[in-house]
Amino acid sequence: MIPEPAPTIRELLAFYLEAGVDCALAEEPIDRLAELEAPPPAPPVAPPVEPSRPVAAPTLMRGEAALAPDVAIASAREAARTAPTLDALRELMQSFEGCALKHTATRLVFADGNPKARIMFVGEAPGRDEDIEGLPFVGRSGKLLDLMIGAIGLNRTTAYIANVIPWRPPGNRTPTPQETQICLPFIQRQIELVNPDVLVTLGNPSTQTLLGTREGIMRTRGRWFDYDTGQRTIRALPTFHPAYLLRSPSYKRLAWQDLRAVAKVLAGS
Ligand code: URA
Repeated sequence: MIPEPAPTIRELLAFYLEAGVDCALAEEPIDRLAELEAPPPAPPVAPPVEPSRPVAAPTLMRGEAALAPDVAIASAREAARTAPTLDALRELMQSFEGCALKHTATRLVFADGNPKARIMFVGEAPGRDEDIEGLPFVGRSGKLLDLMIGAIGLNRTTAYIANVIPWRPPGNRTPTPQETQICLPFIQRQIELVNPDVLVTLGNPSTQTLLGTREGIMRTRGRWFDYDTGQRTIRALPTFHPAYLLRSPSYKRLAWQDLRAVAKVLAGS
């Protein structure tokens, strides 16, 4: 058999780009596969007792092998349910091993803004800039989101911003339904803990996932939905994702209408 010729540098770079490796994050490469194969750290001899912290029994944590998606979803639900605060939730997500996206992302993108805000915006998933900075909506679409919320007198000290998926999918690919289902309990718990008066879902994936509708954004935008946290019902409004508005600026007019409706509800309640 004739051996395959070695790939050229150009072919290798094209392969990396397709796999989502589109920027250098450090001077030296890091072998993440070797990290995964490393034996889990030995358990402490006498683990400190922290009575006030919840024990998330079946949660998949650092060093444990990935399980079937339904087990990962159950594990995420259990972990999210037991998080008493946003800080605890962030910590749980940092050590959660049930979502493969975590291994290709640089870092967790948890949230930005004011956790006491009366309004929460939820997008789909971090992109390259968010993955580098560890904050949601800091790239081009984030700049537009800042302008949009600024138009109704809000900014990141008066609004709270997060994503359904907290790890960047490689190459910004669409998250799989399984990845979305695994991450869903975390954003649901985050919404419950922030407990805003108004929830704005940005774009189709966030709207369909959080509001349980199969209708497209052209039909759902500007229509009020009820979002049930289990503790209370929050008013939720879908609108266009800023990345979509960058591609189709003519829809900014409708997004502006949606934001004015949001401002009206915030002023009235
Ligand atoms: N798009 C999103 O949905 N979220 C981000 O954080 C950035 C871009």
